[in-house]
Amino acid sequence: MYQYKCLNPISDIGLSRFTENYQTTDDITKAEGVLVRSASMHEMDLPDTLLAVARAGAGVNNIPLDKCADKGIVVFNTPGANANGVKELVIAGMLLASRDVVGGIDWVKANAGVETIAKDAEKEKKNFAGTEIQGKKLGIIGLGAIGIRVANAAVALGMDVYGYDPYLSVDAALKLSREVKHVINVDDIYAECDFVTIHVPLMDATKGMINAAAIAKMKQGVVVLNFARDLLVNEKDMISALESGKVRKYVSDFPNPTTAGQKGCIVIPHLGASTEESEDNCAVMAVDELKDYLENGNIRNSVNYPACDMGVCGNVGRVAILHKNIANMITQFTAAFGAAGINISDMTNKSRGEYAYTLMDIEKSADDKIIEQLKRIDGVFRVRVVK
Ligand SMILES: NC(=O)c1ccc[n+]([C@@H]2O[C@H](COP(=O)([O-])OP(=O)(O)OC[C@H]3O[C@@H](n4cnc5c(N)ncnc54)[C@H](O)[C@@H]3O)[C@@H](O)[C@H]2O)c1
Repeated sequence: MYQYKCLNPISDIGLSRFTENYQTTDDITKAEGVLVRSASMHEMDLPDTLLAVARAGAGVNNIPLDKCADKGIVVFNTPGANANGVKELVIAGMLLASRDVVGGIDWVKANAGVETIAKDAEKEKKNFAGTEIQGKKLGIIGLGAIGIRVANAAVALGMDVYGYDPYLSVDAALKLSREVKHVINVDDIYAECDFVTIHVPLMDATKGMINAAAIAKMKQGVVVLNFARDLLVNEKDMISALESGKVRKYVSDFPNPTTAGQKGCIVIPHLGASTEESEDNCAVMAVDELKDYLENGNIRNSVNYPACDMGVCGNVGRVAILHKNIANMITQFTAAFGAAGINISDMTNKSRGEYAYTLMDIEKSADDKIIEQLKRIDGVFRVRVVK
């Protein structure tokens, strides 16, 4: 029986995936797994029982990743689980930037109770008219989980779509509509597109990438959408570009004092992933990752240990070792099993930065003596008998 603790409310659709072999607990010192959304774990004591933390969501800055890794605790997140929610709001953002729907709704609210509102609306509506998105050029910077979905949806809406991602994965390329023009220079997007949307992670290399120099290369009257992170855009430069008319609208999911209430800015209070479906998808993915790790030792979507998949644990024994990524570790592991006369039938060793993971299927159960021996090897953080 495995025990898990939820540090935040987790969607029932996710929790319903736990079988009768799982039990929820309020006592973290008994938990093998933790499910978390935004609760900060930085000040928490991490008990020796704890094997894994699954974050239902993408960002992991509430979790001490290295401290967990040093204790042999694998941390998972759920990349892409909220991508559809964000995609839908990006499409809405393009529509809101093209037609003054918000201004129109505000006019109706302000005129509620006016007897002649129906007739007045016919006169007033020209003030809220706009353009359509069909046939317009959309440039997407970053073709990951969200960018790909935005690209394919925009193609379906009749847009002419350009995509830029120097690190495009094969998996992502296979999912991308063949209608999308993949450019190798981001300047081609700036030069061609009526709408530019950014879907890259915030890193040193991407911080402020939409700045005055980038905007200068864009078309007059371009619409820029930012549903990734506000710091990707130099928003002071953006305000200047809105004032000069170079940029028609800036649509952002990140309110801050620079953009909130500014003319030309359509700012949404970080609603990209705020859908029931996104929360359900994140919970389902987090629970599945946790179960696969606890039951089979497989690691999928970890942020502090490497990915590793040896399938369902069907052999006599499976042993997982979480250790430092240094020389001579595997020799010592195999020597320990060899000396005990235990044959290793399958084995995977993967590394990620300073950390490594070795998963071994063995033809006889490992006894306490050999497990203790493995634990004593310098550089080993944890040894776990999966089965
Ligand atoms: N508004 C929201 O609520 C919300 C929700 C989820 C994610 N996000 C943000 O959206 C971002 C993208 O999310 P995702 O799930 O698509 O991530 P992802 O990791 O699947 O995709 C990111 C893509 O950006 C590409 N990339 C990296 N550097 C690049 C560069 N310099 N130029 C072009 N492409 C580059 C990567 O190759 C990758 O394909 C996240 O990093 C996060 O900040 C926002």
